[in-house]
Amino acid sequence: MATVVFNANTQTIDFQVAIFERIAVALEKDGYAVIPNALPETISNSLLDYIAYADAQAHFHPAAVGRGTETIHSQFIRRDNISWIAEEEPYSKLWLDWSTELQRYLNRRLFLGLFSFESHIAHYQPGDFYKTHVDAFKGESNRVLSLVSYLNRGWEPDQGGELVIYAPNSNQELLRVTPNFGTLVIFLSEEFPHQVRTANRDRFSVAGWFRVNGSNTVQVDPPR
Ligand code: OGA
Ligand code: MN
Repeated sequence: MATVVFNANTQTIDFQVAIFERIAVALEKDGYAVIPNALPETISNSLLDYIAYADAQAHFHPAAVGRGTETIHSQFIRRDNISWIAEEEPYSKLWLDWSTELQRYLNRRLFLGLFSFESHIAHYQPGDFYKTHVDAFKGESNRVLSLVSYLNRGWEPDQGGELVIYAPNSNQELLRVTPNFGTLVIFLSEEFPHQVRTANRDRFSVAGWFRVNGSNTVQVDPPR
């Protein structure tokens, strides 16, 4: 049944390229994309395994806000717990390989010069939120592209936890994303303010950032 295996692989690759191309087209046109069922289920499932592992290792810790030496923990800004995804950890490979492929595709297609990637799992418990923020400030950071995907099956409308994305430099709401399993959101990090509305049940997301190389003669930029 060699042909069947070959076809299955081809379909998987075709599917991935189709999603990557949709992302490229939307980024070029709008600067953001929201695509349901975009993250392959095998990857989402391995991230669920990663969560169980990180939880067992007590890796989750309260998320901080701010940059560099100015990071603080503020219960008024965000209340989620996070666990950074390290390459050497189990269950991280499928996700990191996929993001590397996306990085290569977008660099070829849009000449973005994406250089490195960092990502974490976030756990919002009932009552948790993340107030309106941008992931990077113009001229102060080399995060250029933000990526979020969701790991929650059967999210109901009354469970809150939507990601709200606003138009650049305004408070005009562009869209509300239900944090459903497999949905992928990607946007230019400096352009789009966004917030996570209070979740009424446990809510898991994976968030990642592609950076351009910020190295200069004074300081070498570490991946994170
Ligand atoms: C973030 C973020 C959005 C989400 O971690 O910076 O905006 O929907 N996450 O979890
Ligand atoms: Mn954010």
